[in-house]
Amino acid sequence: MSLTTQTPVRVAQHRTYLMCRPEHFVVSYSINPWMEPAKPTNTGRAIEQWQTLFDAYIALGHEIHLIDPVPGLPDMVYTANGGFLVDGVAYGPKFRFAERSGEERPFMDWFASHGYHLAEPVEVNEGEGDFLLVGDIILAGTGFRSTGDSHREIGEVFGREVVSLTLTDPRFYHLDTALTVLDPVQGEGGVERANIAYLPGAFDDASRAILEERFPDAILVSDADGDVFGLNSASDGLNVFISPRATGFEAQLRERGYNPVLIDLSELLLGGGGIKCCTLELRAANQENA
Ligand code: ARG
Repeated sequence: MSLTTQTPVRVAQHRTYLMCRPEHFVVSYSINPWMEPAKPTNTGRAIEQWQTLFDAYIALGHEIHLIDPVPGLPDMVYTANGGFLVDGVAYGPKFRFAERSGEERPFMDWFASHGYHLAEPVEVNEGEGDFLLVGDIILAGTGFRSTGDSHREIGEVFGREVVSLTLTDPRFYHLDTALTVLDPVQGEGGVERANIAYLPGAFDDASRAILEERFPDAILVSDADGDVFGLNSASDGLNVFISPRATGFEAQLRERGYNPVLIDLSELLLGGGGIKCCTLELRAANQENA
């Protein structure tokens, strides 16, 4: 452990995100263990909670773009799955389940009309749900949704190193439900000093070993915090937007000099999604991908 006595100074970086107001949110089918169509959902409450996230991003200086919700596509609120964008290129999603395939064109049309070059996917992948940029590398999840072949494909599209990680717990079916990128700046000597947080029990042994080796300073989050979707968070390098129920993670973040911003998206958790799921990072061509 290289814990120093001094808390590092964290700096907030400007972010540009794509979000989708959950006007048609409902749980009408089940494609993950959180979704129970028999349980009632409250669309009004989902919109109110989503609005608190939107407002928090704006209040902290971030730029939010909106994509129009499409009737009959209740999961479109989870924009993280709409693609993966770096250097002005949008690698499109190809959803595992037919229930979500109708989202593919609306997302790609939005990216095209906002100046992104499109990389059409051949392989099944669910965008930033399973692909997370850390410095120059892409951490890529598989096991439930995105395939291993999509890991190869995204590496070819962006010419970046891709580190494959295998998820083993069906409740944590996307990488962004089990791992948060806190500060994407890479350290020297090939070791990522910076910082991620993850839920060790969500990964297989080989993936855990990779994470331990590459991210020796990572925050290891407890099962209790993982279970309330504490890892499904967004970070600007200083402010970390997390569930108010992830109290242990909140304390760990404070110890490391981050500023937790508590946002309750309990209604959207009925669909198996949280803060990060509702947030897709837009990285334009001329932008630093920090
Ligand atoms: N109901 C959606 C699904 O199962 C939730 C997606 C959550 N998104 C995420 N990035 N983890 O596909």
